[in-house]
Amino acid sequence: MEFSTQTTASLHQIKTAALAVGVFADGMLSPAADIIDHASNGALREVLKSEFLAKAGTHLALRRLTGVVAARIILIGLGKQDSYNAATHANAEFVFANYCVQAHLSEGVSTLAAIECPNSTMRSRAQAAAVAAGRATYYYDATFGKREHNAAPKLKKIILSVARNQAGQAQQGLSSGGAIAAGMNLARELGNLPGNICTPTYLGQAAKKLAKEFKSLKAEVLERKQIEALKMGSFLSVARGSYEAPAFIILRHSPASAKTAGKTRKAPIVLVGKGITFDAGGISIKPAGNMDEMKYDMCGAASVLGALRAVAEIGLDREIIGLIPSCENLPSGRANKPGDVVTSMSGQTIEILNTDAEGRLVLCDALTYAERFKPAAVIDIATLTGACIVALGHVNSGLFSKDDALAESLLRAGRDTNDTAWRLPLEDAYQEQLHSNFADIANIGGPPAGSVTAACFLSRFTKSYPWAHLDIAGTAWRSGKEKGATGRPVPLLVQYLLDQA
Ligand code: BES
Ligand code: MN
Ligand code: ZN
Repeated sequence: MEFSTQTTASLHQIKTAALAVGVFADGMLSPAADIIDHASNGALREVLKSEFLAKAGTHLALRRLTGVVAARIILIGLGKQDSYNAATHANAEFVFANYCVQAHLSEGVSTLAAIECPNSTMRSRAQAAAVAAGRATYYYDATFGKREHNAAPKLKKIILSVARNQAGQAQQGLSSGGAIAAGMNLARELGNLPGNICTPTYLGQAAKKLAKEFKSLKAEVLERKQIEALKMGSFLSVARGSYEAPAFIILRHSPASAKTAGKTRKAPIVLVGKGITFDAGGISIKPAGNMDEMKYDMCGAASVLGALRAVAEIGLDREIIGLIPSCENLPSGRANKPGDVVTSMSGQTIEILNTDAEGRLVLCDALTYAERFKPAAVIDIATLTGACIVALGHVNSGLFSKDDALAESLLRAGRDTNDTAWRLPLEDAYQEQLHSNFADIANIGGPPAGSVTAACFLSRFTKSYPWAHLDIAGTAWRSGKEKGATGRPVPLLVQYLLDQA
């Protein structure tokens, strides 16, 4: 995708296949809509009287208006003006980009970002526009025999129409937004690929491919032997159940300025992503229904790769390290059994009461590995618990942290990118549910507060740095007819990293 800005005020003279103008449900026209209405002798107001109610999320295409050079004016409904906000704006940009895709257009001009709305800047609105366009153009065809040639999106270019003195800001927003969109689409693609293709080895190759593409990135993929040498006994116990080789992936973004001697460097931020490329549950096997969806159990890993791709493209001035423990969780004669006790890299022993609580078993060793970087913060991202979907549905990711400042920064980054999270408790009182008669800690805490006890388990391995945990079981993918990976929480993560740089 290509993004640019244009600053002509004479919107009726813009030559384009589609020009998006916003209108409010109470009959108010945006400044752009007003210009087009005047140029076309009141054609817009005419339509608004009856045909188009301008509800948020709706659109109407008007072709060949007299006095207007653009081939189509796309009226975009913005809902009531007094409730118009950044989320409505982002969605409106998506409606427009999606229209362009469905109509097989190769370019379009949007005037929507020029409309002011609360708690947003031109930069953030332009970023949202680029993310929306990137999302609209995502198209999965990796595993079809042949798919109709005509179905692939042709949209290549979105131009934002903005005031001259805001073009610089808009340009910045478009470039970070374009990078976020590319990171999201990478995460979606990896999430959507089936488990027999997207293996731990494949994720390792994806990291290496990124390192080839971006100079600031370096990838290292540790194999079983090296993981053994690190004594990651908990991670390896999950990996043992499968013939598929495990991988421990380290992807590092080092900004150019980091090499300049004498400059005091900020400590790195570490992202840890759960990379279970298929979760059958192990011996505590899952029921058959919808088990295919457990190919998405590596969406934490995918969001780490997507976020690192984005920070590399942006050229972020901060060292960021991605860690991905990746394997399958299958039942077999070598798999973990309920009651088994394993020794984690930290030295703490774990009684495995349910082999389906495997995410925490692979993450805990990666969290211990993270200590060596003396990080300013560690954030793990994981499709960790079904209980998180029960608690928060598909709207918010679950956020857990004892560090209020870190939690607040992540919540804000989520709000600013419409990729929201909701904070859940992490009090010591829940820790007793993890008591084991046979080891330092049990890997499950029983039915009450399943997402909280999962986070409590992880917290035992994060004593030496500020830490937050994102449970993305509900937000990383959609079920049903629209089944597929969403690319969340790449926007939240990248915004957080941008804010920290
Ligand atoms: N990957 C699952 C969590 C999950 C479930 C994500 C459904 C998305 C949709 C995880 O490994 C798991 O199986 N968790 C168990 C934990 C339980 C055994 C304590 C769960 O949520 O049932
Ligand atoms: Mn599981
Ligand atoms: Zn899992």
